[in-house]
Amino acid sequence: MYRILQKRSLATGIHMYEISAPEIAAKALPGQFIILRVDEWGERIPLTIFDFDRKSGSIKIIFQEVGFTTKRLACLKQGDFITDIAGPLGMPSHIKKYGRVIAIGGGVGAAPIFPIVRALKEAGNEVISIIGAKSAETLILQDVMNNVSDRLIICTDDGSLGEKGFVTEVLQKQLTGEKPDLVMAIGPLPMMQAVSELTASFAVKTLVSLNPIMVDGTGMCGACRVKIGEETKFACVEGPEFDGHLVDWETLIRRSTMYAKEQELILGEKARSGGGCGCHS
Ligand SMILES: Cc1cc2nc3c(=O)[nH]c(=O)nc-3n(C[C@H](O)[C@H](O)[C@H](O)COP(=O)(O)OP(=O)(O)OC[C@H]3O[C@@H](n4cnc5c(N)ncnc54)[C@H](O)[C@@H]3O)c2cc1C
Ligand code: FES
Repeated sequence: MYRILQKRSLATGIHMYEISAPEIAAKALPGQFIILRVDEWGERIPLTIFDFDRKSGSIKIIFQEVGFTTKRLACLKQGDFITDIAGPLGMPSHIKKYGRVIAIGGGVGAAPIFPIVRALKEAGNEVISIIGAKSAETLILQDVMNNVSDRLIICTDDGSLGEKGFVTEVLQKQLTGEKPDLVMAIGPLPMMQAVSELTASFAVKTLVSLNPIMVDGTGMCGACRVKIGEETKFACVEGPEFDGHLVDWETLIRRSTMYAKEQELILGEKARSGGGCGCHS
């Protein structure tokens, strides 16, 4: 059982939990994730380790309420317990000195990009970060991203904060200036696809952190398989970070919506029987 030490709301439907998990905190590295079950009947969902403190033995996660399990997780309070957490899982991010790096976090993708930006900066890179959201109300982690970046560019779809437009529009302007040595992008699949297509036309190396459906997280079930160039890879053990120019985006996006009907059904059923997550709180 894993105790929630602190719960904080970052924006509507986006929460940060600090959780006591000494064994995970002791080994976690930037880019890795956990798979948790809220309770013994819960489904397993992957969430990135946003931060970890080896001394206090705690990890932090940031998640957005998008469906049944994330809504159920959001119902927990400070002091409550999460039944089980497996981790750290996945390969750590490829941290080394590249030179000039542009790091992009779209929506809640600002959370997983943060520890990577911090590590890239510590490795001696010049890091320009771009974080984007629909509007000012949904933009998260502005201050912490500013602290670990050489320069932070903010953009919102509606122009309510920073530049108006998508992260790709901001990126395009950056690419036409001094060429970066690496672009690193984390966010919704269509965003990472658009970033990868754009950087391919500028021949800039691009890493993305993929978020396919995962079940066991140990390379056994095959749910997370993705096509990278001519090879099939299991994102949970061989990723989640891959070369964005080699990802078969079409198949990945199609596979990520394969349970959409079931996901809607369970939310509808739970809403009819009480709260949206079935916890009646
Ligand atoms: C490696 C990895 C790291 C992630 N890190 C974060 C994070 O830090 N913060 C965050 O908010 N989200 C993160 N996600 C996405 C998160 O796992 C999903 O939002 C969550 O599983 C949705 O579950 P749900 O029951 O609430 O929603 P559902 O209604 O079940 O699904 C909503 C959408 O979430 C995705 N999803 C559903 N089940 C899974 C699953 N088992 N594995 C992967 N995706 C699923 C699907 O694309 C689906 O369309 C990560 C995903 C992966 C693979
Ligand atoms: S989640 Fe089962 S093999 Fe990756």
